[in-house]
Amino acid sequence: MASTALPLLLLPFVLFSQTLAQAPINITGILAEGGQFSTFLRLLGESNLISQLENQLDNSHEGMTILAPSDNGFNALKSGTLNSLNDQQKSQLLLFHVLSKFFTVTDLQTVSNPMRTLAGDWGLNFTGQPNSNQVNVSTGVVTVEINNKLREKSPLGVYVVDQVLLPDALFGKHAGVPPPRAPGPRADNSPDEGNPPESDAANPPSDETDGGVRNGVGLGLVLGFGLIAISLLF
Ligand SMILES: *[C@@H]1O[C@H](CO)[C@@H](O)[C@H](O)[C@H]1NC(C)=O
Ligand SMILES: *[C@@H]1O[C@H](CO)[C@@H](O)[C@H](O)[C@H]1NC(C)=O
Ligand SMILES: *[C@@H]1O[C@H](CO)[C@@H](O)[C@H](O)[C@H]1NC(C)=O
Repeated sequence: MASTALPLLLLPFVLFSQTLAQAPINITGILAEGGQFSTFLRLLGESNLISQLENQLDNSHEGMTILAPSDNGFNALKSGTLNSLNDQQKSQLLLFHVLSKFFTVTDLQTVSNPMRTLAGDWGLNFTGQPNSNQVNVSTGVVTVEINNKLREKSPLGVYVVDQVLLPDALFGKHAGVPPPRAPGPRADNSPDEGNPPESDAANPPSDETDGGVRNGVGLGLVLGFGLIAISLLF
C-alpha cells in the first residue's frame, strides 16, 4: 500500500521544488559574488536598471545573457569616456551588454550576427573557434574575448569581458559623441555636465511580486515536507 501511495504523496513536493528553481534570480548577488564588477553594479544601480532586468528575466521565457565588464575594463577606458554620455546614453551603453535570450558560451560561437541587444538595433558580433570554447565579441569599436563565466545556467548566463563594449553608434568614427570633443563650427550652448533634468523621480521599484512568489514557495515547501512526513508514518 505504502509503496504506491508514496510517489503520489511526493508529487506536490516535486512540483513545488520546480517552482523553487524558478524563483527570482538576484542579478546583484551574482555580480557582487563575482567580486570585480563594482563599477558595472554602481552604474546599473544609478540607472535603475537592476530591477528592470530582474523583472524582465522573471517574465521572459527565453532568459537573458549578460556580458559583464570587469572593473579592469572600466579602468581601461579613456578618462572622461563615461562623462561624455548623458543619462540615456549611459543606460543604452549598459543595455548594450545584455541579450534578451539565454545562450551558453558554446551557443554564442554559432549565433547569427549581428545579435540584437537590449539597446535595440545596436548589435554585437560573436565569433568563435569551433571546439575551442573560445568566443570573441565585437562592437566594431572593440573586440574582446569572453574570458570567464559567472553563471551559465538557463535562464541566465553571465559572462565576463575585460573591456567595456563601446557601441559604434556612440563611439565609432561617425558617432555623434566621440570621446575627444565634438568637432564642427556649431555654437556650444549645451549645459554643463552633471545637471540632467530630473524627470524620473517617481519610479519606485516594486517588490510585491517577489514577496508573493516567495510566500508561494514557502507554502509549497511546508506542504511538501508535511506530506513526506505523513507518508513516512505508513
Ligand atoms: C541580492 O543580493 C545582494 C548582494 O548579495 C543582497 O544585498 C540583496 O539583499 C539580495 N536581494 C534579494 C532580493 O535577495
Ligand atoms: C579573438 O581575438 C583575439 C585578439 O583580440 C585573437 O587573437 C583570437 O584569434 C580571436 N579569437 C577568435 C575565436 O576569433
Ligand atoms: C557583424 O557581422 C555582420 C554580418 O556578418 C557584418 O555585416 C558586420 O559588418 C559586422 N559588424 C562588425 C562590427 O563586425
